[in-house]
Amino acid sequence: MMPSILPTYNRAPLSFVKGQGTWLTEADGRRFLDLGAGIAVNALGHAHPTLVKVLTDQAQALWHVSNLYQIPQQQALADRLVELTFADTVFFTNSGTEACELAVKMARKYWHDKGHPERTDIISFKGSFHGRSSAGIAAAGSEAMTAGFGPLLPGFIHLPWGDLDAVGAALSDTVGAILVEPVQGEGGIRPLSDECLKGLRQLCDDHGILLILDEVQCGMGRTGKLFAHEWAGIAPDIMMVAKGIGGGFPLGAVLASENAASGMIAGTHGSTYGGNPLGCAVGCAVLDIVADPQFLSEINRKAGLLRQKLEALVAAHPNNFEEVRGTGLMLGLKCKQPNTDLVAAGYTAEILTIPAGDNVLRLLPPLNIADEDIQIAIDRLDRAAATLSTP
Ligand SMILES: Cc1ncc(COP(=O)(O)O)c(C=O)c1O
Repeated sequence: MMPSILPTYNRAPLSFVKGQGTWLTEADGRRFLDLGAGIAVNALGHAHPTLVKVLTDQAQALWHVSNLYQIPQQQALADRLVELTFADTVFFTNSGTEACELAVKMARKYWHDKGHPERTDIISFKGSFHGRSSAGIAAAGSEAMTAGFGPLLPGFIHLPWGDLDAVGAALSDTVGAILVEPVQGEGGIRPLSDECLKGLRQLCDDHGILLILDEVQCGMGRTGKLFAHEWAGIAPDIMMVAKGIGGGFPLGAVLASENAASGMIAGTHGSTYGGNPLGCAVGCAVLDIVADPQFLSEINRKAGLLRQKLEALVAAHPNNFEEVRGTGLMLGLKCKQPNTDLVAAGYTAEILTIPAGDNVLRLLPPLNIADEDIQIAIDRLDRAAATLSTP
């Protein structure tokens, strides 16, 4: 019989009733250490007191008004993002997928209005993930996501991950943009090298095309800078953001330069809920905390500590793990056994991790994870791995 929830997820038999910091309590009382953070969403952990207060205060005052009116919380968040990044303008969405939709539309409208409507192609990369909408699956292009959903949105050229030569060879008069995750998340925690990101920027500059970065997973402090591309010292023209920006409240955004956004005039795009007072009030509070240079430097310190301990874990379990990969608090353990077995062993050891592509176990803890919780995480991962060790 068809379940009442459309069965598109394979769900673990776990049902959480409470969250506090990096900890989740299961209905039966067990406490799980959460190294998934809702897939990089709970950037400040569960029930952060400041976010709870901001959300409940805003809920007492006003939940929703349409974008037909001024929304001061939205204005404040947009102003702050513009101040802190390359962007001149921001559109708020409810999710990363929605941000992808707008990024694609924005690039196409840009070229249309510049008198080059033929420049509709967007170069993207194999192993990418940009969401599950028609544009998102067409952009990523993997068979696993697209099979059965055709006809796909045309205009995406899928190249090998990080292959600058292939990008150079694929550039033509119909290409208008390059779309890339600075660190692939779903694809298996694969950071693009600074050289490659700089190379993509250079190619875009040389050919006058747009660089679109998908920082839905790797942005908002996850790599130890507010946005991952800052490590390479480059700026995109358009950037997709979501997940951590709402700290657990559904919120996303497209940030853009004035030039890239020039086609998006009144009536060209919209969203009923995008930029609502609740989401933006929380987003302002998240950004105040995460953009603080001291908070960012703490992320880097914690990331160093976690990575060092993970390297030791890998050395202690050569049958289970091949290597540590990733950057900042966006880390992965490349597994030798099926990553899903390790995720399941983690459930028994009361630790939550997330499977990713390329047989990687993804670790995306809250950015403010306590040092003692890092040690508990290692102890529990050690226990989980030990239960699977082959003789
Ligand atoms: C890099 C990236 N882009 C886009 C998305 C889609 O975001 P959402 O699930 O919020 O629609 C995700 C989600 O995992 C992602 O990791």
